[in-house]
Amino acid sequence: MKLVVTGGAGYVGSVCAAVLIEAGHDVVVIDDFSTGNRDAVPEGAMLVEGNIVDVIDGVLAEGGIDGVLHFAARSLVGESVGEPAMYWHDNLVVSLVLLDAMRRHGVTSLVFSSTAATYGEPEEVPIVETAPTRPTNPYGATKLAIDDAISSYCTAYGLGATSLRYFNVAGAYGEHGENHPTETHLIPLVLQVAMGYREKIMIFGDDWPTKDGTCVRDYIHIRDLADAHVLALEANQPGEHRIFNLGSGDGYTVREVIETCREVTGHPIPAEVAPRRAGDPAVLIASSARIQQELGWNPTRTELTRIVTDAWHFTRDLGERSHGAR
Ligand code: UFG
Repeated sequence: MKLVVTGGAGYVGSVCAAVLIEAGHDVVVIDDFSTGNRDAVPEGAMLVEGNIVDVIDGVLAEGGIDGVLHFAARSLVGESVGEPAMYWHDNLVVSLVLLDAMRRHGVTSLVFSSTAATYGEPEEVPIVETAPTRPTNPYGATKLAIDDAISSYCTAYGLGATSLRYFNVAGAYGEHGENHPTETHLIPLVLQVAMGYREKIMIFGDDWPTKDGTCVRDYIHIRDLADAHVLALEANQPGEHRIFNLGSGDGYTVREVIETCREVTGHPIPAEVAPRRAGDPAVLIASSARIQQELGWNPTRTELTRIVTDAWHFTRDLGERSHGAR
């Protein structure tokens, strides 16, 4: 298939683009490099540099596009609280422009990066797709609004779409990994301590109602996540919007993550308890039963040690490359 991948220079988008190319698809990456990295665009992809709003018509007008995978987005929960206008525009408005361009050009298949943040504080874990959606921050609210728009476009205009609600994506695939200009995620931050870039890791609260008092999250390997996108694309049906959670189904505390990073890196990784971070739910664990049953998704890299090891190799190699470039 010939596919458009928006945000193909970002962490998740670049890995998915690489996996799609490996699977034999032709990939056109659209990215404006506002948060993505130029060297993350996978080899073999055609690159269109620019904002989706400016370039999407030109790309789709060339014809022959079978589907779109839409990753480009603002995705920092904390930032979304302080800068909601940027999130509503860059996430919702830009997605609507994309949906309308797809409609105009007769492109009827979409895979969308949604998030566990659409659910907010869960009433029950593991979280199933029928759980109430009550986002607790603008980031989650924008993604939920896009999911709603997609549903109505599917019903009214015959779009075939899948929204994948990611839990805590981590790990790396080959030379593609997490390399954000502003890093807020736990595993890359802990590995930065092991690299000597940071003195210590701050644990946001140790008085949560969990087994060791720190928050529990469901970490999913980026490569398993990418496989789900390929399956979703192949299963899209005109007029249908499917929504699937994507996690490993296992929860690990912040302390367990730090301990695993110590084992993998051999570094003592000093840690210090800090106050709770606003907006953090105590426990987020996915039920991915629906996508396993309906699409046959079978994650194979669910061990935290495997996820951290792949992330560590990427972080170390990146450190060596940037050191060599100096
Ligand atoms: N944490 C720390 N110290 C840090 C960074 C994080 O203790 O320096 C803790 C957080 O408090 C949280 C856990 O580690 O309990 C994981 O935090 P991340 O920032 O890595 O990830 P989040 O769970 O906050 O958010 C991620 C995605 C969101 C998505 C959410 C839904 O980044 O986009 O999962 O599951 F919405």
